[in-house]
Amino acid sequence: TAEQFQHGALAGKRVFITAGPTREPLDPVRYISNHSSGKMGYALAEAAIDAGASVKLISGPVTLAPPARAECVQVETAEQMLAASMDGIDSCDLFIAAAAVADYRPVAIAEHKIKKGSEEIMELRLVKNPDIVATVAGLATSRPFTVGFAAETRDVIGYARSKLARKQLDLIVANDVSNPEIGFNSDDNAVTLVSAQEEINLAQASKRQLARQLIEQIALYISRNDS
Ligand code: CTP
Ligand code: CA
Repeated sequence: TAEQFQHGALAGKRVFITAGPTREPLDPVRYISNHSSGKMGYALAEAAIDAGASVKLISGPVTLAPPARAECVQVETAEQMLAASMDGIDSCDLFIAAAAVADYRPVAIAEHKIKKGSEEIMELRLVKNPDIVATVAGLATSRPFTVGFAAETRDVIGYARSKLARKQLDLIVANDVSNPEIGFNSDDNAVTLVSAQEEINLAQASKRQLARQLIEQIALYISRNDS
């Protein structure tokens, strides 16, 4: 319960959390996106606030109400999410990337609604989006403790470990999204917290409960780092 939650584990810490999907426009009425609900990121924001942190929640379009005590920055595209993430990053102690960022965006946004042509097949040209969490983790100065997520459908720990190394993260939350009972739109999740040295399994629970366990574990890693 809220009362039992270890208060103060992140006291005085500035935490940035990305959440939800991004939306990459094609024309004035269309976009590319994904089914991320934002629930995990919003639950992490609440848990971090309850642990004493000052939280900036950088969110793509979701239907959730922002946590009352978080500073909430609403964005649409990956590029806007990156800009909002880098704004004030010098003061950030902990960066958690829970957003499902679109890996690619249309190379150009049509000024007017794209009309249906006579061709049966139409091709979209896409360009890679910046990797937000890798950009933050790669900062040369005042780099925050950086935590990513890995949504995988197979070889979950293997892919998570390769992302941990490739993006130079401190921790990665490995998430098996092939199980329909958990992940993306579900209220429940089950994850493994992976560091370079160890793996901590967190059994299926509500995203709210899991968020509290994750914040508790992350705070432990940070305190070991600080001392
Ligand atoms: N991420 C990010 N910016 C991107 C893409 C991903 O910050 N442009 C972050 C996500 O928020 C997550 C982590 O990187 O914390 C891993 O995202 P994921 O989609 O699992 O990994 P990718 O590197 O995009 O690889 P792939 O989609 O091919 O598995
Ligand atoms: Ca991706």
